[in-house]
Amino acid sequence: MSRYLALVPAAGSGSRFGGPSPKQYLQLNNRPLMWHTLQVLSQVAAISEVAVVISPADEWFDDFDWDLPKLRVYRVGGASRAESVRNGLQAMSADAQDWVLVHDAARCCLSVTAVERLIATLADDPVGGILALPVADTVKRADAEERISATVPRQGLWLAQTPQMFRAGLLGSALHAAEAADVTDEASAIEHYGHKPRLVDGDAQNFKVTYPRDLALARAILASRKD
Ligand code: CTP
Ligand code: MG
Repeated sequence: MSRYLALVPAAGSGSRFGGPSPKQYLQLNNRPLMWHTLQVLSQVAAISEVAVVISPADEWFDDFDWDLPKLRVYRVGGASRAESVRNGLQAMSADAQDWVLVHDAARCCLSVTAVERLIATLADDPVGGILALPVADTVKRADAEERISATVPRQGLWLAQTPQMFRAGLLGSALHAAEAADVTDEASAIEHYGHKPRLVDGDAQNFKVTYPRDLALARAILASRKD
């Protein structure tokens, strides 16, 4: 039977966030930010392993008590997110038919419900898919002077989130084939490879902590779940 394996790239430096350590190690409600991420994935009953990919030069991971039984650590992070995922996938020895759920370490407000919805929706899917949000706002295209050059119809536009869930075999082949291309998520590698990933309703709370201003919202969401 195919397993469900989570793969969490966490080898980034958080350059837009700034600060003395990468954002995934920032203290948030008494835990490192990515502990919350890893904890949610661990809570999903169907997931048997949560693999986190950190940089070989990481100086922070060992300072914390992670205390998550499904957690495995791979120090094989690369220069780009795609490279970290590719290296992690190789290191974790998944079977070709296993489902891999790739999830950003910095999306710490993921909910168990959203992951379960993704897994249930894609159970019999031949390709796999991603959590995503239909665009709700009116979308503008800017010119070089940051003036509006066009209003883009939002019909059919979605914002990609993670987890992005694909069979290990297909994902490995697609990432290998996309090596030279500029892919910022797994779905684009699968698209380049000729497939059409399914869009599954995500969650507005599942945003990626990118700038310091994002912290207050993450803190409030996590605090609200404790009650
Ligand atoms: N990531 C990674 N390896 C890299 C770059 C990014 O594993 N070489 C991970 C990050 O740690 C993060 C996820 O990919 O969990 C999404 O990336 P992003 O939010 O862009 O994080 P950073 O790249 O660290 O931040 P920035 O782009 O601001 O430098
Ligand atoms: Mg980045």
